[in-house]
Amino acid sequence: MAKTIYLTTPIYYVNSVPHVGHALTMLVCDVAKRYHAMRGEPVRFLTGTDENGLKVLEAAREAGEEPQAFVDRIAGSFRACWDAMNFAYDDFIRTTEPRHVRAVQHLFEILRDKGAIYLDRYEGWYDVSSESFVRESDVVDGKSPDGNPVTWVSEENWFFRLSAFGDRLLEHIRAHPDFLLPESRRNEVIKFIEQGLRDMCISRANPGWGVPVPGDPSRVVYVWFDALINYLAATGWPDPGWEELWPADAHWMAKEIFTRFHATLWPAMLMAADLPLPRHVIAHGWFVFGDQKMSKSKGNVLAPLELRDEFVAHGVDPALAVDVVRYTELRCLPYEGDAAYTREEIGKHYNADLANDLGNALNRTLAMVQRFGDGVIPSPEAEAEMRGRAVEARVAFERAMAQYRPDRALEAASDLVRFLNKYIDSRAPWALAKSADPALRPVLRSMLLGLRAAEGLFRPVVPATADAMASQMGLRPLQEWALVGEEESLPAGGKIGEAKPLFPRLETKTRPSEPRGAAPAPEPDYVTIEEFSRIRLRVARVLEAEPVEGSDKLLKITLVVGEERRQVVAGIRKSYAPEDLIGRQVILVANLKPAKLRGVESQGMLLAADGPDGGAILLQPDRDAPEGAAVH
Ligand code: MSP
Repeated sequence: MAKTIYLTTPIYYVNSVPHVGHALTMLVCDVAKRYHAMRGEPVRFLTGTDENGLKVLEAAREAGEEPQAFVDRIAGSFRACWDAMNFAYDDFIRTTEPRHVRAVQHLFEILRDKGAIYLDRYEGWYDVSSESFVRESDVVDGKSPDGNPVTWVSEENWFFRLSAFGDRLLEHIRAHPDFLLPESRRNEVIKFIEQGLRDMCISRANPGWGVPVPGDPSRVVYVWFDALINYLAATGWPDPGWEELWPADAHWMAKEIFTRFHATLWPAMLMAADLPLPRHVIAHGWFVFGDQKMSKSKGNVLAPLELRDEFVAHGVDPALAVDVVRYTELRCLPYEGDAAYTREEIGKHYNADLANDLGNALNRTLAMVQRFGDGVIPSPEAEAEMRGRAVEARVAFERAMAQYRPDRALEAASDLVRFLNKYIDSRAPWALAKSADPALRPVLRSMLLGLRAAEGLFRPVVPATADAMASQMGLRPLQEWALVGEEESLPAGGKIGEAKPLFPRLETKTRPSEPRGAAPAPEPDYVTIEEFSRIRLRVARVLEAEPVEGSDKLLKITLVVGEERRQVVAGIRKSYAPEDLIGRQVILVANLKPAKLRGVESQGMLLAADGPDGGAILLQPDRDAPEGAAVH
């Protein structure tokens, strides 16, 4: 049997609360976990909490709680947040658990027996906030390079012979170009090791909290030495069966704990114990605010569930609002550099990608299958172009995942959705229907096939949205990766379900566009730009049109406006036959107070010019505009 794919996040310090930065690494692993599971591959996703160390002890004291009660409470809040975020971790390890303590002590003993650990005196500075020893030369104005206060330590302590592993580490890194990713960070590690490694102090005087050094209870194991072992401890090591998981396939983290800890200390510890090294160690960048990393101490944390709740308040279903956070985080993933994950960025991607691209593709496909295909999934083969694009998207997704680029995988899924929208525009099913063209059914099937493939590709990232897409298509969730883009994914003859908008558009603030120079003096019939901007004009597409009974002037028109449907009654029957309107883009006054005309509700008004004969000439964008786009 194939070895289980083993993926890990860092274990989070319990002196903080879960924020969108922590959630980012969770998400990256969760997407990989769900993707491998869809491929039918055995996979295990580990996360957890780092509960030893002085920093946690100090946080417990500050909170006025017993340390154990404190870590229980905060570890619980991490779990609760991750569960609410739909992160499908398989194991949650806590460094206060016996299985972890046992593994730490066991590895310590092995290394001490092998002579890789020895007793010596440590005199120097310690940065509690980063839990790291700091060189004298790196202390400036009483602060560590991370800007934290340092305390003087003068203790007899245990040391790890890190200096002995520099050459072997370099050799391994050079022989395995994808051991450390991305390449830019790998190069930093090489430089760091080439400068020479020093032995590392790996114990501290026992403050009554931490993993006691075996045979030396006056000291505890240094928290980083202890924490890294969690990855091995969770395999059950040294009990039989641990090799089913070890070596880990990917340790994911952000850059600050890459070079010194995961790319140097950890592999050296494993080498010293003659244990296999992880296959890939991968660091992404930070979510930043201005030039600062998001962190509790800087007071700039954004909690994932708070963000979710903002979208719930906006009218998004709670399960789908979690997906908004998941989607936008992955969309903003800083792989090489850092990224601003601000409400502005989030709103932009929400509107453009979810409300607009995905919403339109879903809504238009279902509406058109309903209207032109009796709401039934057609049987003829899909057009080769769509099949080709869907399979191409799947392959691009797979390639990206094989290169540990979930952000690019998402891009492949989004590309397919954008292609689907273009396909609908260019194949114009409304026109095919009008001319009774036999291509109509294959085109409708192609649209559904594209949508079904998008459901599969989006599933690892936004599982609840994928479920909603499947249910609207009247299908069971597409769980099998190999079917993505294939005809078998789309059983013919079924009735499609009810189309419901998933992601209502966020109203963006109107742009300030003051005229340059002196403003002209207002005259009685001017409107100000603010007054004008209160009128919400939107691009909409006509889905259906029919005469209003008992009137020779009025047409009842159903419109798609982004994610929304609208019905308007327009007095244009003399100028347009209903079938000429279907599929056409129009400009809608979207916030006109609803009114009843001949007993039929009209939820807006279409803009039209007066024709020479007193008829109406509808306004239409010069070329296809995104549906729902604002008109200024
Ligand atoms: N306890 C150590 C890790 C030990 S692993 C053996 C630790 N914990 S932490 O709570 O500070 O979490 C750091 C990790 O959280 C980062 O490496 C990253 O995975 C994630 N992130 C925390 N803040 C982040 C950002 N602002 N941006 C991106 N990732 C963030 O270090």
